[in-house]
Amino acid sequence: MKIAVVGGGPGGLYFALLTKKARPDWAIVVFEQNRADDTFGFGVVFSDETLGEFLSRDPQSYDALKGAFAYWDDIIIRYKGDEARCGGNGFAGCSRIALLNILQKRCRALGVELRFQTVVDDPADLGGYDMVVAADGAGSRIRERYKDHFRPDTRMNRNKFAWMGSTRPLDAFTYFFKETAHGVICAHTYQYEAGLGTWVIEMGPQTWGALGFADMDEAVSARALEAIFAEELLGHPLIVNRSLWRNFPRVACERWWHDNIVLLGDAKATAHYSIGSGTKLAMECAIALSDAVTAKAEASLPAAFDAYEAARRMAVEVTQHNADVSMAWFEHMSRSFDMKLHQFAMVVMCRAKSITWDNLLLRDPAFVSAFEDEWYQTWFEQSGFDCRAERPGPMFTPFALRGLTLANRVVVSPMAQYRASEGVPNDWHFAHYAARALGGAGLLFTEMTCPSAEARISLGCAGLWNDAQEAGWKRIVDFVHAESGAAICLQLGHSGAKGSTQLGWEAMDHPIERAADNWPLIAASALAYVEGRNAIPAELTREGMDAIIEEFARAAWRGLRAGFDMLELHCGHGYLLAGFLSPLTNRRTDAYGGSVEGRARFPLEVFAAMRAVWPKEMPMSVRLSACDWAPGGIGEDDVAAIARAFAAAGCDLIDVSAGQTVADQKPVYGRMFQAGFAEAVRNVTGLATMAVGAITEPAQINTLIACRRADLVALGRAHLTDPFFTRRAEAWYGVAQRGWQKPYIPGLLQAHREAARERERLTELQRKAKPKPKREG
Ligand SMILES: Cc1cc2nc3c(=O)[nH]c(=O)nc-3n(C[C@H](O)[C@H](O)[C@H](O)COP(=O)(O)OP(=O)(O)OC[C@H]3O[C@@H](n4cnc5c(N)ncnc54)[C@H](O)[C@@H]3O)c2cc1C
Ligand SMILES: Cc1cc2nc3c(=O)[nH]c(=O)nc-3n(C[C@H](O)[C@H](O)[C@H](O)COP(=O)(O)O)c2cc1C
Repeated sequence: MKIAVVGGGPGGLYFALLTKKARPDWAIVVFEQNRADDTFGFGVVFSDETLGEFLSRDPQSYDALKGAFAYWDDIIIRYKGDEARCGGNGFAGCSRIALLNILQKRCRALGVELRFQTVVDDPADLGGYDMVVAADGAGSRIRERYKDHFRPDTRMNRNKFAWMGSTRPLDAFTYFFKETAHGVICAHTYQYEAGLGTWVIEMGPQTWGALGFADMDEAVSARALEAIFAEELLGHPLIVNRSLWRNFPRVACERWWHDNIVLLGDAKATAHYSIGSGTKLAMECAIALSDAVTAKAEASLPAAFDAYEAARRMAVEVTQHNADVSMAWFEHMSRSFDMKLHQFAMVVMCRAKSITWDNLLLRDPAFVSAFEDEWYQTWFEQSGFDCRAERPGPMFTPFALRGLTLANRVVVSPMAQYRASEGVPNDWHFAHYAARALGGAGLLFTEMTCPSAEARISLGCAGLWNDAQEAGWKRIVDFVHAESGAAICLQLGHSGAKGSTQLGWEAMDHPIERAADNWPLIAASALAYVEGRNAIPAELTREGMDAIIEEFARAAWRGLRAGFDMLELHCGHGYLLAGFLSPLTNRRTDAYGGSVEGRARFPLEVFAAMRAVWPKEMPMSVRLSACDWAPGGIGEDDVAAIARAFAAAGCDLIDVSAGQTVADQKPVYGRMFQAGFAEAVRNVTGLATMAVGAITEPAQINTLIACRRADLVALGRAHLTDPFFTRRAEAWYGVAQRGWQKPYIPGLLQAHREAARERERLTELQRKAKPKPKREG
């Protein structure tokens, strides 16, 4: 085999080294446009935990690298003249050039040919190679030349950054956050060798423009930044080396190989530097590619490339997703700038969502404790709830909405049961809601309950337009109040264009099979949910609007009589009112379409009619889809404007969901995948929010609340499998007895004992699994 590697970065060199080592008979040539000693860039940082795992593939280079590494455990967050320190993280850093020189040396020793100052823009220019590895970095010209095959998706991060260095000594990975007259700047800094540190400096485009960096070259930029960071640099200069202002390119490729060309490292996928994994990713992919090629390439290149992709795609996408979330936080860092020190530090630590409350408890209990001191005190000052002595964790603190006090922040999300007959809640509903009330959540939502028969999604939907339905709900509400500490909120909604469909577990969103059972639909505009499948709804007339407003107000009145504590208007998921809010489903040209004010007008009229019925001291919420996951859908500014308009109309909580507006949506799933929308509404508008969506662990709830992503956290599916989720979480954290139902006390006591043992066991395991910092190298 003859292999050409284009690009002598960490990815290309490590692949060449490992492959030559495994197959000394193969000819491997690395083409690198720079000289061997070009020192572009400063340091690279790896997480200590994974270092051994991937570098030990070649013990000789690992040993050499260990000597070059600087090690540290702490992350420092410097903020408004103060600092918080979080230990137990474990990092190793070295200079990029030291890493490259060690890898080059090993390549040479093994017989890899290194051709420097050789540019390869098209593999077609290279004759006689069986295989070409395009490891030519984020701006890969090879990838771009064959982009029709690789199908790259390249998005530029909004923020501007420059990669600089400094001689300022640093004993930890340090984030310096600096407020200027034009916005916030962050310097991500760490020492990578004696007397030298990396300083990646980033800021939003407005800040960058207003500070005049657009007109400064790198040296002038460095002088200007030295003035801004004068206090932090302690008299040390900023050093430049091709430190041009750039936007980080987020690259992902649909295909990783074409013919005999395979992409490696940043060329195929980049991960934002704020999670410090680009080099590691490139080198881990180099291992997988080398393994696949040495095992299969002689028999079949496509088989080798497929094996490489199968081994790495998932891991790369997960890391990229974490990096995206972290990158997005830095784009909006100013939104957290009103926080106190320890909350801000908590947000910085947990920004990528892979670090949670529980991880931090293990890494550095003192860091969590300092946060708790500050947080309970602040919460006491803001709300009067005093949790300073008990310290139950954010999820177990009370929360008030008008006159209603919730015992904790856990919510059972609204979930249609499709079990009602003629809209009447029956024994199924009783058992379902009763179990979840006994399970300890602070607040239960009913499923979407319909103010008329035509408002239903399916024939199994619950309703509240007649006495029998009211009596059914009252029986449930009375039990919840008598036997549990939970509050219960009635969710009212109208299906609109998504009505008259089969039950959730049949063909969801498809019309009812027996044609005669279907009913005519109405919506903001005459657009079928799925053209050719769902019926075309009639555009709602003014007269129709009046009738619907009346139905919602009457259902609210019945809800009050049934004893509900709270009322929610469902304006999400593409149903009637959501259909008005989204520009994708509202094409009206009258006063109820067009601008965001127009689109929100009818939902607000419905809300106002319900608010007029619902007593002043009782809270109301609105569920919104904060994103349609489709081009041309609702945007963040619209959502903030809508949330503010509902708040002005008397809404106390924005229940932030997403999607289901259009059938061809492309959601980006992942744990807590919608929480960013709740966080945006919370931080931009200051309104109370509820987050929902793939939240499954108590640690995530604590994290979301601690980081002010939301005030309440709703779990849907997790509550379907475990009504006692909250009770289990109490046991896990050893939170003192709270409203236990007497017949269940023996079981709960046992759960607490077992959880304490399990927690101790896991903590011990994790402690043992954590590598000791290798301070001597
Ligand atoms: C500001 C910043 C900070 C970073 N910090 C870290 C960090 O702390 N830790 C970390 O792990 N990662 C970090 N990274 C990411 C890291 O630099 C990359 O992810 C990593 O270097 C990728 O390795 P690679 O081999 O794929 O590509 P690269 O390192 O980019 O190497 C590509 C090589 O190809 C060469 N080349 C390009 N085109 C051609 C051509 N046509 N012909 C010949 N040669 C060519 C280039 O000269 C280069 O040497 C950071 C990135 C940035 C932008
Ligand atoms: C079976 C089922 C029924 C649902 N019905 C409703 C509903 O009636 N009203 C509503 O607003 N959301 C409804 N949802 C959405 C959930 O409230 C929640 O937003 C969603 O499931 C994401 O949260 P999860 O990942 O915790 O399940 C339903 C979800 C499921 C799984």
